[in-house]
Amino acid sequence: MSNSSVQKCPPADMPEFAFIGRSNVGKSSLINMLTNHKKLAKTSARPGKTQLINHFLINENWYLVDLPGYGYAKVSKNSRNKFQAYISDYIINRENLYCLFVLIDCRHEPQTIDKEFIEWLGEKQIPFMLIFTKGDKLGRNQLSSNVASYKKELLKTWEELPPIIVSSAETGMGKEEILQFIADTDPKLNN
Ligand code: GTP
Ligand code: MG
Repeated sequence: MSNSSVQKCPPADMPEFAFIGRSNVGKSSLINMLTNHKKLAKTSARPGKTQLINHFLINENWYLVDLPGYGYAKVSKNSRNKFQAYISDYIINRENLYCLFVLIDCRHEPQTIDKEFIEWLGEKQIPFMLIFTKGDKLGRNQLSSNVASYKKELLKTWEELPPIIVSSAETGMGKEEILQFIADTDPKLNN
């Protein structure tokens, strides 16, 4: 189901896990990797592909949710504000949102837009974790040094770090860890 307001989402009667992050970070690709479906969530090399709140019902007992990216400059200011309002409304008011997965491209230095978004999640007390995407694009040393410097940056403002997982939609890196994280939040979930 796809829609643009929290009121129109499916009934909030099952656990839900949503994916957010900058446009093009790999949210839709990661959902496809986790579900073993190449084309479940629509992906594109051009940023701004996902524009709605997309619910995928998994094994009849939980939801994965694909959200539009933030920080996509080409969307007009007006429509950008509009979609940000319905995304923040969803994040704040969706009562069955167990955890928000915030995706970060592992190749980049910490970006202001991500840091501000993470701060906002803290203010609103939204449970979240971080997933570094496109792990296949870096060598092992570069990958761990980028993750380490990201953690260092976060510790400037946070007392404690959220859970962190490194993933790749290309190689399947992080898949078991993410599915295990989801399963650990509720013993009734089977994935
Ligand atoms: P929006 O819906 O526009 O916000 O983007 P998105 O975050 O859903 O990104 P999407 O999954 O559409 O992927 C964007 C581009 O990155 C596509 O060209 C993907 O093939 C590529 N991509 C995504 N994940 C990975 C990954 O783990 N490794 C590599 N090498 N490429 C990836
Ligand atoms: Mg997408």
